[in-house]
Amino acid sequence: MNWPFYIAKYLDNVIAKTARSLDAFDDSFESDLRPADARFGEFQANGVLPYAKRKGANPRELANQLVTALRTCDSALTEATNLEIAGPGFINFKFLPKFYLEWLSYLSNQGELEDAAKSPIANKVVAVDFSSPNTAKQMHVGHIRSTVIGEALCRLLEFQGAQIIRDNHVGDWGTQFGILIMALRHFNIELDSDAPDALEQLEDLYRRGSALTKDDDSKLEIARIELVKLQKGDSENLALWEQINAISYQAFQSIYDQLNVRFDHVLGESFYRDKVDEVYNGLVHHEIAQESEGALVVFHPEHARYKKQPFIVRKSDGASNYATTDLATILYRIREWMTDEVIYVTDGRQQDHFQQLFLTAEKWIRHLQDHKIPNLRHVWFGTILGEDGKAIKTRSGDPIKLKDLLAEAIERSRKIVEEKNPDLTSQEREEIARLVGLGAIKYADLSQNRTNDYVFSWDKMLSLDGNTAPYLLYAIVRIRSIFRKAGHKPGEGEEFATAPETSEELSLARQLLLFSSALEQATSDLRPHFLCTYLYELAGSFSTFYNSNKVVVEDSAVKARRLMLCARTLTVMEAGLSLLGIETLEKM
Ligand code: ARG
Repeated sequence: MNWPFYIAKYLDNVIAKTARSLDAFDDSFESDLRPADARFGEFQANGVLPYAKRKGANPRELANQLVTALRTCDSALTEATNLEIAGPGFINFKFLPKFYLEWLSYLSNQGELEDAAKSPIANKVVAVDFSSPNTAKQMHVGHIRSTVIGEALCRLLEFQGAQIIRDNHVGDWGTQFGILIMALRHFNIELDSDAPDALEQLEDLYRRGSALTKDDDSKLEIARIELVKLQKGDSENLALWEQINAISYQAFQSIYDQLNVRFDHVLGESFYRDKVDEVYNGLVHHEIAQESEGALVVFHPEHARYKKQPFIVRKSDGASNYATTDLATILYRIREWMTDEVIYVTDGRQQDHFQQLFLTAEKWIRHLQDHKIPNLRHVWFGTILGEDGKAIKTRSGDPIKLKDLLAEAIERSRKIVEEKNPDLTSQEREEIARLVGLGAIKYADLSQNRTNDYVFSWDKMLSLDGNTAPYLLYAIVRIRSIFRKAGHKPGEGEEFATAPETSEELSLARQLLLFSSALEQATSDLRPHFLCTYLYELAGSFSTFYNSNKVVVEDSAVKARRLMLCARTLTVMEAGLSLLGIETLEKM
């Protein structure tokens, strides 16, 4: 039997189908299948109890009927599992060793796994709007979250078969340009885009420009005029604006290269500047927006807060803003890409903006012909805190530059490698330091439930113990060395393998089976930490197995099945880390 990868979904379908064939159940029955406590089996269907309660029936009686029917309807399943009723009517599924042998025999390589993981639900077009820094500034520590979580979500959804469009919605049309252009003219500075510190110079100029506007109202007025000139298309200001953006893009790109993150589109806010009239006209025409003190605003009478808190879509000076470009962006993504879903990855402080944006878009887009409202989801995240429990900052109180943070991660892991492994060549050490350092930073972020704040700690994230990238990377290195020492390639000789027997073999096999459930959990909630927790537990099961079950033994059947377990663990760990955007290594 070729068992499906999404084993939970398969069971769920079988249960639903079987229940429907019985008089005692109707369509409202749901299996409520979930991974079970290891003592009772792999999965547990808890749905009979609430169903019986609703119908005023005896749950144990219903569970009995269902289990009897399952035993007769699906012979493959009956042969593969022990079905048991527990308590008042829970149904436990405990897979037998023979099932594990069948299940493990397939998924023997990365390619098979990728094919199996495609799920038909995910055949949709999903635009992921992530990273999205603002130009004229450096990316700072806060941007790591959107970049790393966004990239992981793209990979996770892609793995399940979604068509992903990665879009970097850069903030390149904001008020910072008025100040910068004013300051360039005031200090009579020529921008040198090729200078290695061009972006630092811009930031410095922005600081000086802001200071000027604070002391002198006339400078503020000039900055405002420069911005209006730019927005009206003044050619000199546009040239300066382009130069400033080019400097920023160069700096962004070097961070994306380092983090191995890529985009299909980089369409900044400015791209939508000539697409905002359609937004105003539509919102006014359909009486969604109204004039208020010279501005155009949207209220949502059905919402407790947004019936009073306006969503400003055109400022009183006539200028567009963040809300306007975001509305135009939704329309563009529907028209050009036919997106079924848009995912926005930003920090939690933008929750109001996105809630108001989604409410407004839904009211507006349903009036447009041939346009289906895509599923709009705001994936927000908490703040990275310093050891003092406040938002992390440098000693002087400035935001930490992402560039510096990444350099420090590599530097710190280089020191550890030098200490632990002085025999490696310097080239090897360099590569390990880079992969471990960057992996540690990414993993520290991804392993946290994204809506929580978390405390940034170098010692924790670089530790070889605990739920960290170094721990997982080391588990992979160890499995690879098992194969090297055994003189085997992963996958070789598996036809001689027998079913898992020892309790450690069985619990490792069980943990491998749960990979698809972890993936489903991570994607349905758009929370990569579910996958991290899973991989950490898998590494733990592997370690327990390896410590008490010698792999390379005389008995060729035992050896073959243990090597098969090693090989599957390797495949799943590698696939899992790659879904998180973390590169693995051979040695460390
Ligand atoms: N540039 C914004 C910021 O730095 C994030 C943009 C997010 N995407 C969007 N479509 N609004 O906060």
